[in-house]
Amino acid sequence: MELFEAINQRKTIRDFENEVISKEILEKIISAGLKAPTNDHMRDWQFVVVTDKDVAVRLLECIPKGISDADMEQLIRDWNLNDKLQQECYRNAVPKQYRMLFDASAIIIPLLKQKTDILHPENVSHLNGFASIWCCIENIFLAATAEGLGCNLRIPLGEESTHAREVLKYPEDYFMPCFIGIGRPLKGIKPVRQIEINPQDRIHWNEY
Ligand SMILES: Cc1cc2nc3c(=O)[nH]c(=O)nc-3n(C[C@H](O)[C@H](O)[C@H](O)COP(=O)(O)O)c2cc1C
Repeated sequence: MELFEAINQRKTIRDFENEVISKEILEKIISAGLKAPTNDHMRDWQFVVVTDKDVAVRLLECIPKGISDADMEQLIRDWNLNDKLQQECYRNAVPKQYRMLFDASAIIIPLLKQKTDILHPENVSHLNGFASIWCCIENIFLAATAEGLGCNLRIPLGEESTHAREVLKYPEDYFMPCFIGIGRPLKGIKPVRQIEINPQDRIHWNEY
């Protein structure tokens, strides 16, 4: 698939076919991630790939399995989600936080080596490692799209990353930015529409 086609086709996928993805394809996709730009040239990233459902059950046990209609409405009010498409996105996404990972063919946990306190950076460059892994994550998403697959992600909340470290046994000096679910998009599923933006409204030539 051509690059711009993959960029245009990539959408967050939260519903998957029950399908095994081969190790070769997963390795190909992660190796695209490993080609991303990185602040210190070291690409000090590790990936735990969970394909075993017993491990997935333990890994995901802190993630809420759904949300009541009343709590969903409250969340939309509390987070001031006023845009219709944005509301559509949250109504679709929030109830699927557990399922979108559990039903994925694999859960990829990217890990970066974090040398400073990521939650208390002293300057922007202390966030370079965190910024770099997001370049890696986007490469993974685009490579998955090019393979006819789809991805979602969840930012770990509360105890979820401490729990993930216990289950997956990754070292103390690695930091987990997100969970990634990857799989074959469920046939007929329509991903939430993106907000459309006219680039001319956002580009400022020479001066804002
Ligand atoms: C930094 C970041 C955090 C996100 N957190 C979550 C999340 O916790 N759960 C989720 O389902 N989607 C999450 N998403 C996915 C967004 O909801 C999604 O990218 C957005 O709605 C745009 O849709 P698209 O990816 O289909 O273009 C996150 C995306 C980014 C870039």
